[in-house]
Amino acid sequence: MKSLFLGIDVSTTGSKALLVDEQGTVVASAVSEHSISTPKPLWSEQDPQEWWDASQKSIRQVIKEAGIKGDDIKGIGLTGQMHGLVMMDAAGKVLRPAILWNDQRTGEECEEITRMVGFEKLLALCGNKALTGFTAPKILWVRKHEPEIYAKTAHILLPKDYVRLQLTGDYAVDKADGSGMILFDLKKRTWSKEIIDILEIPESWLPKSFEGSEVTGVVTAKAAELTGLKAGTPVVGGGGDQAAQAVGVGAVTPGIVALTLGTSGVVFATTPSPLIEPQGRLHAFCHSVPGAWHFMGVMLSAAGSLRWYRDTLAPGMNYDDLLAPAADIPAGSEGLLFLPYLTGERTPHPDPLARGAFVGLTIRHTKAHMTRSVIEGVSFGLRDSMELIKNAGLGKIKQVRVSGGGARSPLWRQMLSDVMNSELVTVNTTEGAAFGAALLAGVGVGTWKSVEESCNATIKTLDKTTANPAAVKTYEKVYQQYIALYPALKPSFTGLSEL
Ligand code: XUL
Repeated sequence: MKSLFLGIDVSTTGSKALLVDEQGTVVASAVSEHSISTPKPLWSEQDPQEWWDASQKSIRQVIKEAGIKGDDIKGIGLTGQMHGLVMMDAAGKVLRPAILWNDQRTGEECEEITRMVGFEKLLALCGNKALTGFTAPKILWVRKHEPEIYAKTAHILLPKDYVRLQLTGDYAVDKADGSGMILFDLKKRTWSKEIIDILEIPESWLPKSFEGSEVTGVVTAKAAELTGLKAGTPVVGGGGDQAAQAVGVGAVTPGIVALTLGTSGVVFATTPSPLIEPQGRLHAFCHSVPGAWHFMGVMLSAAGSLRWYRDTLAPGMNYDDLLAPAADIPAGSEGLLFLPYLTGERTPHPDPLARGAFVGLTIRHTKAHMTRSVIEGVSFGLRDSMELIKNAGLGKIKQVRVSGGGARSPLWRQMLSDVMNSELVTVNTTEGAAFGAALLAGVGVGTWKSVEESCNATIKTLDKTTANPAAVKTYEKVYQQYIALYPALKPSFTGLSEL
């Protein structure tokens, strides 16, 4: 009999199932896609049933591909897109489509939360300010705009926890994802009675919260029949995708920073205590490592900016061919700057109305300049988060681990290293959050004693990229120009959105 762990990642684009063994070898992987709907500008919704259908399909597929039986899987860990709101009635029936993390409709509700709780108190209790991406403003939006749905609600869950409910029959959440609802008391690692009472959200709606490696329940007979899993298999808390991604690259101790260059871009740092950035510019959440917390800066369109650029200006071209000519353009793209706020921004400018821009175009600039300036703009935006993390009282950053699709490009890795004046390392694991969730399952069933031990057993660093002093100097000057652009253009962004 084998000893495997299953990580399930309910992401925005699809649900992935990943089978990992005790050495950290990926035995099988499968993804089934979800559709996303934007019924109105700024809205972003998904049907929770699609997550469960896609998860079942992916689980069945990995079991088949690996040629194993359900009882070869010793534990299951869940991860997924954070902050999405699923509302259910007392019978567990979904009442409306889930409102996702990238939905930007709740600007007014964020102001309302800040008024009701008070900026200082909200920051002190949950570690964050109210942002459109988070869950609490979505609940207030439904209360105001869909009172008939609100009246029927008896349970709220985050996306991956809807899949957990189908797997185990339990309403549960892990503490990392739970803290992204901003209804959590960061220090106490549980729901904040104070915030919940002020916002008048029924406490009975909230699921029980668990540490990332704690067992929340077991697979039911019905779920076993649908998936091929064995009834009784333990399911652990897991974590929101960013915390699980950090586990998946071994960023589980202070000093090791994870930089993820996916559709969104994230700079993630473990904190040994519930630190809070004084102005709330960084997200401060519980880690999926028991007893640890983390800071995080989130850029909404990182590799997503390059994808938009490619799809719009070079449709069908592969990324290597697109990026190759950009390598011959000097650092700084000869004065051309790109602002990556294509879907609004979170860190360091929490502004749903922020827009993308090319600034400094001249007749000399070619397509290769534009390509380079896109990835430079994203790199500068990630430096914004890195600067906040460096100045947040965390102590020395010993290592930065890069991962995500964009980090596969050596050109982009070198650029990030130069823009941040920091050495970067890659790791052997490429399955990110699903891998982290599988490790948390292994810890939960006792294969490893701690999350750190699971990472040490399975994750190794590979390539190093070191900063080039001449490029560092150039980028320092260009970065100063970059950071001046958002404040200068903000009034135009607001004006344009009103047109
Ligand atoms: C994190 C965040 C995104 C989503 C989607 O705060 O909003 O990373 O979890 O992946």
